[in-house]
Amino acid sequence: MPDEKIAVVTGGNKGIGFGICRSLASQGIRTILTARDVAKGEIAKEQLKQEGLEIIFHPLDVTDENSIDSLASFSAREFGKLDILINNAAIRKDAGMMGLDVPVEIVREMMETNLYGPLMLCQALAPLLKKSAAGRIVNVSSGMGSLAGMGGGSPAYRITKTALNAMTKVLASEFRGTGVLVNCCHPGWVRTDMGGRGASKSIDEGADTPVWLALLSKDGPTGGYFQDRKPMPW
Ligand SMILES: NC(=O)c1ccc[n+]([C@@H]2O[C@H](COP(=O)([O-])OP(=O)(O)OC[C@H]3O[C@@H](n4cnc5c(N)ncnc54)[C@H](OP(=O)(O)O)[C@@H]3O)[C@@H](O)[C@H]2O)c1
Repeated sequence: MPDEKIAVVTGGNKGIGFGICRSLASQGIRTILTARDVAKGEIAKEQLKQEGLEIIFHPLDVTDENSIDSLASFSAREFGKLDILINNAAIRKDAGMMGLDVPVEIVREMMETNLYGPLMLCQALAPLLKKSAAGRIVNVSSGMGSLAGMGGGSPAYRITKTALNAMTKVLASEFRGTGVLVNCCHPGWVRTDMGGRGASKSIDEGADTPVWLALLSKDGPTGGYFQDRKPMPW
């Protein structure tokens, strides 16, 4: 179908990314669920199939340039454009650590996944997004990246998410006039492996704002930071 929307979701095998894939696919969007672990990605695809949802799986490790190139080539070959990129994949390896003692290797590793990965994906997929009538980039950030509410603890996670927010504004500015809208969001505290069982939101609730941003109309916002579909302080 020529006007079919195509979406790429990173870290789609579980958690909020899986919820985003389910929501997009159930709204008729051709969704490419990506995961760094092929077996986990195939299981997630099968799970959605059993729910009556057809999705596409493609391997993607967001820290690996060759893996990103392979996804970009696949998307170009199969669809010739991309409508939605959701940078959801992230790691959090510094729980309980403080800025004064966090090993720099951990900060570096988290920057690779939480910042450089999304940046490389935006760069690699920009030509395809510009071919869309309604290109959308959604960076799944965190309230912990907000400078307005910044505190101590989990320093690497906070820094990577603040940097992702900055990247959102930079790219929103650079994409202006192309039809591509770039926004970031805090999904809320969500019951996933990262959020833990005591979190207040379900996976479907966590997926709501990212999916809303992915489907913004052409007069929608760009360069914004949202929670529960409302702007939040940077
Ligand atoms: N849960 C919360 O309360 C909460 C709150 C604020 C923000 N967030 C943000 O929401 C997003 C999703 O979080 P979540 O709670 O769903 O986390 P999660 O359950 O830990 O899932 C993280 C996903 O990212 C993937 N991933 C990690 N490194 C990757 C890499 N190098 N390449 C590709 N995929 C990779 C994981 O794959 P594997 O399964 O292979 O590890 C997994 O699919 C993250 O950006 C997180 O920072 C979450």
